[in-house]
Amino acid sequence: MQDVLAGLVDIELSPNRSETLTHQLANALREAILKGALLPGRRLPSSREVARQLKVSRNTVSSVVDQLAMEGYLEVAQGRRPVIAAQPLRLARGKSISATATLAPRTSRWAKHLQRSNWPFRDKAPPRPFQTGIGDAREFPHDLWARCLRRAARSAATRQALSINSPALQSALLRHLVIHRGVRAQARQLMVMPSAQAAIELIARVVLDAGDLAWMESPGYGGAHAAFEAAGGRVAGTSLDRAGLVIESGSGRPRLIFVTPSHQYPTGRLMSINRRRQLLAFAASVGALIIEDDYDSEFHYDGRPVAALQGLDEAGCVFYVGTFSKSTFADIRLGYVLVPEAYVDIFGKAQRHSGQIGAAPLQEALAEFIDDGHFAAHIRKMTRIYRERRDHLVRALHAVAGDWLKIDPPSGGMQLVASLGKQIDDHEVAGRMVDNGISLRPLSPHFLGRVTERGLFLGFAAWNAREIEKGAERIGAVLRQYRR
Ligand SMILES: Cc1ncc(COP(=O)(O)O)c(C=O)c1O
Repeated sequence: MQDVLAGLVDIELSPNRSETLTHQLANALREAILKGALLPGRRLPSSREVARQLKVSRNTVSSVVDQLAMEGYLEVAQGRRPVIAAQPLRLARGKSISATATLAPRTSRWAKHLQRSNWPFRDKAPPRPFQTGIGDAREFPHDLWARCLRRAARSAATRQALSINSPALQSALLRHLVIHRGVRAQARQLMVMPSAQAAIELIARVVLDAGDLAWMESPGYGGAHAAFEAAGGRVAGTSLDRAGLVIESGSGRPRLIFVTPSHQYPTGRLMSINRRRQLLAFAASVGALIIEDDYDSEFHYDGRPVAALQGLDEAGCVFYVGTFSKSTFADIRLGYVLVPEAYVDIFGKAQRHSGQIGAAPLQEALAEFIDDGHFAAHIRKMTRIYRERRDHLVRALHAVAGDWLKIDPPSGGMQLVASLGKQIDDHEVAGRMVDNGISLRPLSPHFLGRVTERGLFLGFAAWNAREIEKGAERIGAVLRQYRR
């Protein structure tokens, strides 16, 4: 082996890596052959010799030789040492795998839309203060949840026919939504999805044709924007005033209107009751459908929560979307949509066709978690914690950067906007924050078209008091650099 490998193959195997030794050795030999470091016709030493040199077992070497022979890199014959194959893995058109792997992907129009979209703009870094959109998974009752999951897994053996939307979850969740959000619906209208984003994406595909106009709040939720464009929609941003989305009846006839009335994303404003009625009347008059994204309205801090728009809908035009990724923990991957009665059949079919189905054991476990009162108890507990954190962050930011930031504390939700003066480039400020270990987003990219406000968008829910204070100090330090 020494004569073949020395200077040619830099093989370093380590039992401490996550890959097995077999994997490591196979990868190293494959790479050496593809790079031409081991030329066709060269014979490898015996497996005993390779094992001795590399301090691995003969079994490891034999299984690597078998694997590479199967893949066409080596030629083996009974009683002879393996030989590097003449033309390893030549493909039909004469290109080797390494050459084809560098070709640009040939993607559909839909994928090109995704490529151009700047959403999602997640940090690559692990979550840190003040990342938006996440709650505190440390506070979730994981043991209780594990019990529900275990029971749901056991009951799989006796569960009857496969159903896309668990009837148990449909009725448990609907009861919860009727009591806490004032929705009005039958359980069959409740479709369980892997996420709220999946629901928004599927609604767009079901109701939008290419060129159809979709309105959304500006600033607004990039995930909806991306979904509508990918479905071929023309997306127009609609401005906001204190009462919520401004209905600009002169700006075309939308087929779809996306709103976050309970806690506007990202500003946190609440849509007034009059504006809700106007919006429903307008939608009915032009034949538009509405997506009400109620993504984090479980958490309400001041005054009484306002019931969902869906409960006021007489025309059957509201798709009410929600998610468990805020109310439980981000990785749960379950969301839902209450579909207007007329769309139940087609939406069920679209779910099946697109495979947008929540795992049955998860759905069953969640039904029990809700029925046993754990979900409501968790929301009560987190409402108290998140309210304190919201107040804590507001106080901390005032203390370190009161001259810079204007904050209108939201009455609910998990994040807030701190406005900066119009002259300050919020992209640049947010970039500096990220370099200083803070995760937050600039406000301006959330606008569609004209940017009327600049600021910072911060999540407060996932961070405890100490983390909030330390994070706020860093924010203050970065902002002070602008004064110099
Ligand atoms: C406004 C809004 N809607 C929907 C979603 C999507 O939720 P999910 O994680 O269930 O897809 C998010 C996620 O951050 C959001 O901020």
